[in-house]
Amino acid sequence: MIFTVAIDGPAAAGKGTISRAVAERFGLAHLDTGLLYRAVGAMGGDPVAAARALCPADLDREGLRSLEAGQAASRVAAIPEVRKALVAFQRDFARREGGAVLDGRDIGTVICPGADVKLFVTASAEVRARRRWLELGGEDAPKPYDAVLAEVQERDERDMNRADAPLRPAADAHLLDTSELSVEDAVRAACAEVARALG
Ligand code: DC
Repeated sequence: MIFTVAIDGPAAAGKGTISRAVAERFGLAHLDTGLLYRAVGAMGGDPVAAARALCPADLDREGLRSLEAGQAASRVAAIPEVRKALVAFQRDFARREGGAVLDGRDIGTVICPGADVKLFVTASAEVRARRRWLELGGEDAPKPYDAVLAEVQERDERDMNRADAPLRPAADAHLLDTSELSVEDAVRAACAEVARALG
């Protein structure tokens, strides 16, 4: 079976949690495509050469989940040659036997425009910044909430306004705003869309 679920949305909207849960529930493989850009950003040197040489083991490097790695990823992701170098890997993953869930920014619009299910997961910048800040330790976090909010807004701005494959919902994506949803309810809504598509 070839079956592709595309899950896009801004940072900290809940894509990762929802994608992992959908993959587990339906027995699909999962690719967090942000990790590709994070790995390229973390390699240093020429990002285009890094993207062309990227191999799966690079996705397991330590530190890729940090806020700094996210900012570096967002910068290299604005380079068209970097994006181009990563297309084939993502499309091959999407078409693997058994089905796949890919989460990112441009999966439903550019990488897999023919995906069987497209979800655009979003939440207000304030809610997303608060989640990130709590993940970082809340009152014990290394930076105040306002600084995390500024970073979230900066990344949104860059991801939504870049010329190549900007962050936006595909015309046929189902919108899922998680601002006021529990994790369980968000996962339930996403699984319902996938179940409907699987028939
Ligand atoms: O989902 P994430 O926070 O790990 O993504 C890190 C950055 O990578 C994000 O700010 C933009 C970029 N990215 C992208 O441009 N396209 C994707 N499909 C996934 C991520």
